[in-house]
Amino acid sequence: MKVVTHIQELTELIKQHQKKQHSIGFVPTMGFLHEGHLTLAKEARGQNDILVMSIFVNPLQFGPNEDFEAYPRDMKRDQRLAEEAGVDILFTPNVKEMYQGEPSITMTVQKRTDVLCGKKRPGHFDGVVTVLTKLFHLVAPTNVYFGLKDAQQVAVIDAMIKDFFFDLHLVSVPTVREEDGLAKSSRNVYLSETERQEAPALYRALKKGQTAVEKGERDPQRIYQLVEEELLQTSGEIDYIEIYSYPELDQLQQLSGKVIIAIAVKFSRARLIDNVIFHVPESGEKHV
Ligand code: PAJ
Repeated sequence: MKVVTHIQELTELIKQHQKKQHSIGFVPTMGFLHEGHLTLAKEARGQNDILVMSIFVNPLQFGPNEDFEAYPRDMKRDQRLAEEAGVDILFTPNVKEMYQGEPSITMTVQKRTDVLCGKKRPGHFDGVVTVLTKLFHLVAPTNVYFGLKDAQQVAVIDAMIKDFFFDLHLVSVPTVREEDGLAKSSRNVYLSETERQEAPALYRALKKGQTAVEKGERDPQRIYQLVEEELLQTSGEIDYIEIYSYPELDQLQQLSGKVIIAIAVKFSRARLIDNVIFHVPESGEKHV
């Protein structure tokens, strides 16, 4: 595995692979790797000639009061895990390398961001699409891999790829969970012991909502209540519970088609997000 910190070195390597007509799989991350990231890498490894991973904690996607400085980092361990996952090129630029001086142009996401995390974190997705535009140009991937744990991120990237004609294929990977259902996240290390015990309630709440829909419930308000009931059992503060069409993220009066139930809960030092995405059965094909 080559560890590359400079853009020039990266693009030279990429050019060599392009000459050989190698397909390039790309997994962008902010590091502190866990099984979620490694599952994306595994999938990419199996589908491409070479595997590129980036580790870059992107300051542009953090708000002024968010955890940019405190975001967990462990480059030595990450390098070992990336190598074990079969990464060929690990790109680990510093902030200066990615943001060279004041930007002349900024990107603003217009749709799919006035809900969920986008509403709570103004500017967050502008930062995500900016860094990904840079990374996509540098890595020139054939396939890019993102986790559905961040389902709104996938919806925004899907729109960005289509709007800007990026010549690449987006692969979305199901959320990887702990045995008790908690979605794996770099931020789980901030949970206290009690909070860690409570945290599986997030997925339980979502499944309760999904099961009710599968049994025939179509009223979003009723699903909201079921999910809320379960989350209120934790010491966390409910940040949002929302239900939309997916990936458009439009409001629904009656549940139908592909929908997402998404939640965010604030614990003392960590804000956890989770979601389920599923097809609402047509009436008459009720699951029991
Ligand atoms: P990061 O939070 O490090 O996540 C990198 C990728 O891993 C994302 O696609 C995310 O959805 C995926 N991921 C994280 N936890 C997962 C889990 N439990 N199951 C499946 N996939 C999981 O998302 C970012 O970084 C950044 O916003 C980035 C896209 C790198 C842009 O800076």
